[in-house]
Amino acid sequence: MKKISNICCIGAGYVGGPTMSVIAHKCPDVKVTVVDINQKRIDLWNHENPDKLPVYEPGLSEIVFNSRGKNLFFSTDVDKAIDEADMIFISVNTPTKTYGKGKGQAADLKFIELCARNIARVATNDKIVVEKSTLPVRTAEAIKSILHNTGNNVRFEILSNPEFLAEGTAIEDLLHADRVLIGGDDTPSGQEAKNLLSAVYENWLPKERILQTNVWSSELSKLVANAFLAQRVSSINSISALCERTEANIAEVSRAIGHDSRIGAKFLNASVGFGGSCFQKDILNLVYIAKSFGLNEVADYWEQVIIMNDYQKTRFADNIISTMFNTVSGKKIVFYGWAFKKDTNDTRESAAIYVANLLLEEQANIVVYDPQVGEEQIYSDLDYLGTRSEEENRKLLKVTTDYMEATKDAHAIAILTEWDEFKTYDWNQIHDNMLKPAFVFDGRRMLDKAKMQEMGFDYYKIGES
Ligand code: UDX
Ligand code: ADP
Repeated sequence: MKKISNICCIGAGYVGGPTMSVIAHKCPDVKVTVVDINQKRIDLWNHENPDKLPVYEPGLSEIVFNSRGKNLFFSTDVDKAIDEADMIFISVNTPTKTYGKGKGQAADLKFIELCARNIARVATNDKIVVEKSTLPVRTAEAIKSILHNTGNNVRFEILSNPEFLAEGTAIEDLLHADRVLIGGDDTPSGQEAKNLLSAVYENWLPKERILQTNVWSSELSKLVANAFLAQRVSSINSISALCERTEANIAEVSRAIGHDSRIGAKFLNASVGFGGSCFQKDILNLVYIAKSFGLNEVADYWEQVIIMNDYQKTRFADNIISTMFNTVSGKKIVFYGWAFKKDTNDTRESAAIYVANLLLEEQANIVVYDPQVGEEQIYSDLDYLGTRSEEENRKLLKVTTDYMEATKDAHAIAILTEWDEFKTYDWNQIHDNMLKPAFVFDGRRMLDKAKMQEMGFDYYKIGES
């Protein structure tokens, strides 16, 4: 094989969609087909209205509309795309297992396995199979075994190419990646496959940023990168609790330690807790893997990052309850934000879900406003927890598209996502709308404390006494 000319990606989600759109955009000679079994999702990727794409990311719709129909295609015909491709990316979801051995920790690989079996069944010529989903170490081994034992005598080369994009900045991250990791065998055919994938990225990234490793280093590095990032957030959040009890201010502490070039300034924003599809899942995987090798101290060490994150979410909800005179029953609390961070419509593991759940247990009436997340998703997130009936969730929690109307007669506002637009609101008007005392609980440290207090709010900011 000299050059890759036809790429297929199985899974049109938050990773597959943006990544393949950028590859198509930067490699006009390569035909890129993104397939998914979810017809509704594919229809949305093919929608003529840019606001309807299933993934919200700044800059994504422009790139999709530039390449779609030329060298970028979205389809549900998985078999046809596999058959035609030289290189197949697997980008399906790997959620934490909800059953059986490893329940609550290990990744559920059933979607990956189904993909591998599908590829083995359909392929009639040699293929490079690239795992893009976050996977616990040694998954490539499982994929390899399925492909080699059930394939039609076709040669498969398996690569690991974990995705490091962060949601909300996916397009920027893909276009200007710090590094691309390609793991593969050191055999001549493995080396050739690594070089072919590297050549795809070299269309827009300098070669020095493309790191080649063995498969297991590549898989493990993805988990470790996320564990380190999440650890920074949990570390600063642990200190935010201490700041709230003392005269220290978390912003000042973050700035002071971030100026140490060995520590660095990034990922030191105290918050209501990290969310997203990766951090928790990847750490739990690391914990599970460490335990399975009998490394209990290693497992406990990383598990503490999750424990601290759970504590931060609970602490935020508890503070709302205790500040509002120990009862929120029947009180209207407006949630600004539901997504796990700004500039995405993804809500997986969002802190908002858990904070809402705790307040609903106390019979609060919640009204949610999020600029990109709709009612269906919000109810589905809550129902998934199974804490109360679906009927009860709909009775206690409402979703609105009018952020101002929502504040009429509200007892409190809780900021759960750092959407920029929250800063631009007419907070004087909001104060007029609310019952007094008007409480604001800022889980994202977005607003100016002095100004909010001047307007008459009872304002609480994570990490300040
Ligand atoms: C993360 C990794 O950054 C990315 O490299 C990997 O590919 C996938 O996982 P993502 O989950 O999309 O990306 O977003 P990220 O920006 O890392 O934020 C994760 C969570 O941490 C969010 O809930 C965010 O609000 C929170 N966070 C982040 C903080 O609370 N404080 C910070 O300082 C940084
Ligand atoms: P991620 O954030 O990792 O991209 P998502 O859940 O957003 O995860 O996307 C994964 C996508 O993979 C979903 O749209 C799902 O329908 C799709 N998928 C899962 N299993 C298969 C499969 N066997 N064949 C095709 N698509 C699949």
